[in-house]
Amino acid sequence: MEAKGIKGFKDILPSEIKKWQYLERKAEEVFENAGYSEIRIPLMEFTEVFSRSIGEDTDIVEKEMYTFQDKSGRNITLRPEGTAPVVRAYVEHGLYAGPQPARLYYLGPMFRYERPQAGRYRQFYQIGVEALGIDEPLLDAEVVMMLWHLFEKMKLNDLELQINSLGCRNCRSIYIKKLKEYLGDKLPLLCPDCKKRYDVNPLRVLDCKRDQCRESTKDVPGILDSLCKSCKEHFEDVKGYLGELSIPFKINQRIVRGLDYYTKTTFEVIAKGLGAQNAVAAGGRYDGLVEDMGGPPTPGIGFAIGVERVISLIQDTFPEQKPFIYLTSLGNPGHALSIKLTRQLRDAGIKAELGYGNSLKSQMKKADKSGAKFVLIIGDEEIRKGLGILRDMDTKAQDNIDLKQAFEILVKRLG
Ligand code: HAM
Repeated sequence: MEAKGIKGFKDILPSEIKKWQYLERKAEEVFENAGYSEIRIPLMEFTEVFSRSIGEDTDIVEKEMYTFQDKSGRNITLRPEGTAPVVRAYVEHGLYAGPQPARLYYLGPMFRYERPQAGRYRQFYQIGVEALGIDEPLLDAEVVMMLWHLFEKMKLNDLELQINSLGCRNCRSIYIKKLKEYLGDKLPLLCPDCKKRYDVNPLRVLDCKRDQCRESTKDVPGILDSLCKSCKEHFEDVKGYLGELSIPFKINQRIVRGLDYYTKTTFEVIAKGLGAQNAVAAGGRYDGLVEDMGGPPTPGIGFAIGVERVISLIQDTFPEQKPFIYLTSLGNPGHALSIKLTRQLRDAGIKAELGYGNSLKSQMKKADKSGAKFVLIIGDEEIRKGLGILRDMDTKAQDNIDLKQAFEILVKRLG
């Protein structure tokens, strides 16, 4: 058998993992400081959790879900996103009875049967946030602020925040009427997918990326003119708060999102240098979703970050490692001393790697490759004299250190 992974599913190797951990830790730090708690949702749900919330006529539900029947004949789907399962959990566990907004975040793999390409995978990771129970525009601004703050902390460059409002269900149906009137004349010019979308989900024509559709709908009426008074005010307030926070944004009336549950504010963060798959995070409000899932009428808003895409923006000079020590030894007394020291150092919070191999030369080579700041050499000679050799790998300077004092000396240098 040839060992081979599935197309669109990739391994994350130790050489890349530091960037992943860095993003995960920064996100946890930013979200926890904002009062969010982690929620762990299952990888699978009953299919209708997704089909009813994301919408039967969306690309995700129509073409991209990994759905199968389990041994009891129930329809099960590998989660293509996290919002629907979080809302399902919120309703199932009565989280609406607790303090609101319920502030939740999650991270983990999602599954979509999309055509794999750079930045698009069939198993990909999201870090997501959902805030439920409050309909005030202040919460929209706070959620966007948190996302922006995270990206700023990570020093990501060339990002653009784009926002839009899809209004409530009333203003949206007025707009869809207008949109269909406009698109009626253009139908022959649209791609086959958009011709279908015209009947089943006309909003989606707006985010078709094909040139022919972009070109023929370039003077399409924007949705913002169709918003009712209250949705208009909500959007004005969100923009006002973002302005107060000096978070730069651009209005993009084509952000209609590929999932049907959105209402009012929607947003995407675009990384200009990323090519076709350039949305690094996206989200918005979904004020009807909790009720659709059988809960009490409850507003909600959130976003999800595409982890692979953000990772690809992190500089290659990363990660900055904290300095650590590599202990090399020969012979039993040397090994015994170095393993004891290793344990003491690790207990003291200092990273210490133990060398293996039957020559000091080969251990030194490995130490050099490891990126350690210091190497401690404890060969037979050093044991006899009671003095280890401490080598600074940056300056190549060497010191003899009293092996009885080694722990204290190393803590001073590395602690
Ligand atoms: P989404 O726009 O479908 O929204 O996905 C969010 C982000 O996940 C995208 O902007 C992108 O960075 C990443 N992503 C999506 N598909 C793929 C893929 N096939 N390969 C790699 N990355 C991908 C949602 O999923 C909503 N649940 C977000 C949300 C949360 N809205 C409210 N709360």
